Amino acid sequence: MNNSSASGISGQLLQALQDRTPTLWCNPYYQLRSAVVLPEEAGSPAQAHDRLVRHAKVLGNLFSELSRSHGQVSSPLLSVPRLREVLLPEGDDAGSWFVKADHDLPVAGSVKARGGFHEVLCLAERLLQENRKPGSSLPALDSAQAHDIFSRYTVAVGSTGNLGLSIGQIAKALGFHAVVHMSADAKQWKKDRLRARGIEVIEHAGDYARAVQAGREQAEQDPYGYFVDDEHSAALFMGYAASAQELAMQLAQAGRPVDAKHPLFVYLPCGVGGAPGGISYGLKHQFGEHVHCFFAEPVASPCMLVQLASDRSTPLSVYDIGLDNRTEADGLAVGLASPLVAPLMRDMLAGVFSVADERLFVDALRFHETEGVLIEPSAAAGFSGPNWLLRSEAGQAFLARHGLDRNLAEATHVLWSTGGSLVPAAEHQRFQEQGRALMQADADAAWGVPD
Ligand SMILES: Cc1ncc(COP(=O)(O)O)c(C=O)c1O
Repeated sequence: MNNSSASGISGQLLQALQDRTPTLWCNPYYQLRSAVVLPEEAGSPAQAHDRLVRHAKVLGNLFSELSRSHGQVSSPLLSVPRLREVLLPEGDDAGSWFVKADHDLPVAGSVKARGGFHEVLCLAERLLQENRKPGSSLPALDSAQAHDIFSRYTVAVGSTGNLGLSIGQIAKALGFHAVVHMSADAKQWKKDRLRARGIEVIEHAGDYARAVQAGREQAEQDPYGYFVDDEHSAALFMGYAASAQELAMQLAQAGRPVDAKHPLFVYLPCGVGGAPGGISYGLKHQFGEHVHCFFAEPVASPCMLVQLASDRSTPLSVYDIGLDNRTEADGLAVGLASPLVAPLMRDMLAGVFSVADERLFVDALRFHETEGVLIEPSAAAGFSGPNWLLRSEAGQAFLARHGLDRNLAEATHVLWSTGGSLVPAAEHQRFQEQGRALMQADADAAWGVPD
């Protein structure tokens, strides 16, 4: 489906996507006051937040890494003035920049801890309710009685790596049999880490969608099987959405208001869309018309951009427009956007930009050199967002269209960094060498990002 009328994507945009030219697409359907709400049974960001808080003590008991946060699944908000200086020099209009450090979330080392922990806690609560004996009280989630119930069940998931680390570890710790179906692009160290913790890893030759499908099929045949469905799960989505309350508190503590005079711009790496979609949903519910969320995707895997720009209700994958979905950003190597999330983003998402792999390595290196923080390349996908917004024609037109060009000096920009604290040192070394080699080869290159 290589032509514009068949895909529904405008000719110029389609050409840029097919040429793998980094591109900002601003959503023509964007509504500042998007009022999309999931059905009641999906719960709310506040309920998901309460659930994670309610079980903090149990999480702290299960994982020593969570003791410093008293069992809270939370990450710091880092002020990054030096990173800003390097990424956007001469940026008088660039406002204040922060990194939301989900790469540092304990246990799973990525944003996937939020959704993954939330969904397995929902399942655990449900199983205890279902197995409750009349007249008896519910056992604690980490009690021997609960462990005995959970050990009868298998929790399975399909993953490019990081969701597997999250679901596998929380499920195993509660006593479930945990199975992670991994795609070919999943990194070896992620598989090794899971296996070392007694989690079953099944490898698949195909891409992420193949791993998910295989996991789904296997779980369907097992009456005691539960499949965490990354492409459709509302429980995962709400776990990510719970982060909005945390960010609101941290921005308030940092003295950053979010209102008509102080807009908030958030840049989120996107794979299938669950994590960035859930966070955007939570943020829109928290801050309404004053927050504007952008997704960032690799040039080989811009699945959400393709789906939203095609303006179709039927699925359109990156393969359909001739891309190969091959990227070093393993967590973002997804060919088809979540059918749950894409429609929800139709009027809620401000836009999507695509990022060259070179830029991911260079931005991850810049983060380390300026602020001393190590992340994986996928997690740096959002870092070119402010340049797109403030320095490109499309970004400036977006700001003018929504009356956001008047208060830019007072704006807050949050770059969501989504994974990396568990990456082995040798891998980080390799990422940095690659970043350095790219910078030396072409110190002025911005890899398609306006500068
Ligand atoms: C580091 C990292 N960032 C972002 C994402 C994107 O999350 P989602 O696939 O839910 O869009 C992933 C997904 O695995 C990831 O591993």
